Amino acid sequence: MRNEQPLLRWTTQTLSPEATQSLAERLGRLLRPGDVVALIGELGSGKTVFSQGLARGLGVPKTFYITSPTFAIINEYPGRVPFYHLDLYRVSGPGELSELGLEEILYGQGAVAIEWAERLDKELPAERLEVHLTFLNEMGRNIAFSAFGDKLEKRLATLVSFYKSANERS
Ligand SMILES: Nc1ncnc2c1ncn2[C@@H]1O[C@H](COP(=O)(O)OP(=O)(O)OP(=O)(O)O)[C@@H](O)[C@H]1O
Ligand SMILES: [Mg+2]
Repeated sequence: MRNEQPLLRWTTQTLSPEATQSLAERLGRLLRPGDVVALIGELGSGKTVFSQGLARGLGVPKTFYITSPTFAIINEYPGRVPFYHLDLYRVSGPGELSELGLEEILYGQGAVAIEWAERLDKELPAERLEVHLTFLNEMGRNIAFSAFGDKLEKRLATLVSFYKSANERS
């Protein structure tokens, strides 16, 4: 993994898949063309659930059901911004990765969510929002965001301010 310091970090917890989805939907609404969300966490930690929320926030119609792109590695969905959902679980190594021609997608005009993003290692874009999901318990997840690059720092700051003001109201 690239080891530079993030510009902004924020950690929260969700206590249901729906809560993870709605957090991700909130983030999805803020995403713009070229934004990359790197999802990192064990099997079943919620990377696909998070991606489903992003898709909603990006305006992907509800008729599209977002699953892990098991065989395809990459699925593309139409939205306010085109949404590329990648799952690198089955990619065997850097050799296979370079054959996939991911640059076009990682540096293109869509919003990108990457499950198992750590497999990109040094190929992970310098500008990205990392989302680290870990288990608290069966229904609870710790979700830690790290923003790399100005653009993603801005998106994360907006997301954080939304949740802070929501807390102050309640
Ligand atoms: N707070 C939560 N947030 C997200 N998912 C949760 C939560 N609590 C329970 N779950 C459950 O955990 C599972 C998460 O599955 P999901 O497919 O999103 O994981 P994943 O990280 O994509 O796994 P994989 O590595 O296999 O692709 C779902 O069955 C979901 O219902
Ligand atoms: Mg998944």
